[in-house]
Amino acid sequence: AGVFTYDPGFTSTASCDSTITFIDGGKGELLHRGYPIDQLAEKSHFLEVCYLLLYGELPSAAQLEDFEDRVTNHTMLHEQMHFLFRGYRRDAHPMAIMVGVVGALSAFYHDSTDINDPWQREVASIRLIAKMPTIAAMAYKYSIGQPFVYPRNDIDYASNFLRMCFAVPAEDYEVNPILSRAMDRIFTLHADHEQNASTSTVRLASSSGANPFACIAAGIACLWGPAHGGANQACLEMLREIGSVDKIPEYIARAKDKNDEFRLMGFGHRVYKNFDPRAKVMKQSADEVLDLLGIEDNPTLQVAKELEKAALEDDYFVDKKLFPNVDFYSGIILEAMGFPTSMFTPIFALSRTVGWISQWKEMIADPQLKIGRPRQLYQGATLRDYVDIEKR
Ligand code: CMC
Repeated sequence: AGVFTYDPGFTSTASCDSTITFIDGGKGELLHRGYPIDQLAEKSHFLEVCYLLLYGELPSAAQLEDFEDRVTNHTMLHEQMHFLFRGYRRDAHPMAIMVGVVGALSAFYHDSTDINDPWQREVASIRLIAKMPTIAAMAYKYSIGQPFVYPRNDIDYASNFLRMCFAVPAEDYEVNPILSRAMDRIFTLHADHEQNASTSTVRLASSSGANPFACIAAGIACLWGPAHGGANQACLEMLREIGSVDKIPEYIARAKDKNDEFRLMGFGHRVYKNFDPRAKVMKQSADEVLDLLGIEDNPTLQVAKELEKAALEDDYFVDKKLFPNVDFYSGIILEAMGFPTSMFTPIFALSRTVGWISQWKEMIADPQLKIGRPRQLYQGATLRDYVDIEKR
């Protein structure tokens, strides 16, 4: 027995103290270590934001160079891991591959299980940030039946990822700097978001002292769902299903109908009851990319633009404070870049890895760390005697 507070979905329970990320959903504010996300997206870049999240301060030029060197040193995946990829069905979802491959890294780096050793924690963190783009790109190449492209350490993090996804052997591949900047912004805008479902999963899994690679795999599994990281894929699929601008009113009506389970994917947020500050930057980035690529006649993108307008003017969405979230615009950019929808959530996973690790490191170093152990309100049968099978 015992008296416990019932808080399904943890809407009002704080699970930890944290100094990493602050969100004021009412104001639409998101700060990493105190710095507003729009300034970071505008003036900084992903690896610098990784440093900030991991170590608490913006790096000096020398610290940043050293950090970037350490990351690029670890981008390769052990050649033996290729066999693991080949064990998957050829049309496996890249998220399924990522859950397995990242979890399997725990078998490659046995020493990382010693989480009480700060050096092991550091090297596991760097390895994860370095290898996630390689793993995500390999999952993509495998799913389309193309040979893997090895990482290049003389180009920046985002360009390297684009190259590993889109370069084809025997053909030159030049990364467009505008696309690479847009890619880097997508990484930056997804880097951390305090105690969301996948981060809480990583914290809960790690609270038992488990291997960090296995715990990050748990976070990837949680992120996959359509109410979380899977929303960007679900959003683009919804836009395709709507198909043409004249069908928009029908889908808006369905989203408002309480007897219909359909929701407008890419709209609404548990914490933001104002415009998601990440969505503002992402929208601007989407406009830049569409402009650059000159894609005006893509029906999916036309539907996206008109749907956004229609929902923002509709009383139901206005009253319930349902704004387009970050996944609405990231999907549009990724579609324009040529990524299939199945790669949207892996890209979210590789971006969020630094957030998961920063939160993990903070938790392990917390002297008050206890294994996570939620309680329940039991509603089942009361004490009764066992009945032999022939008497049932
Ligand atoms: N379309 C139509 N109605 C909606 C939507 C939507 N997208 N989102 C919320 N509502 C309604 C909902 O029906 C409810 O109405 P009522 O009060 O009349 O019952 C009200 O708005 C509040 O919704 P809720 O489900 O109680 O809110 P929540 O905080 O539990 O859910 C959410 C947040 C993000 C799961 C939800 O808004 C949703 O399902 N959105 C679509 C999926 C999506 O885009 N998810 C990505 C979230 S951002 C990325 C991330 O964090 O991973």
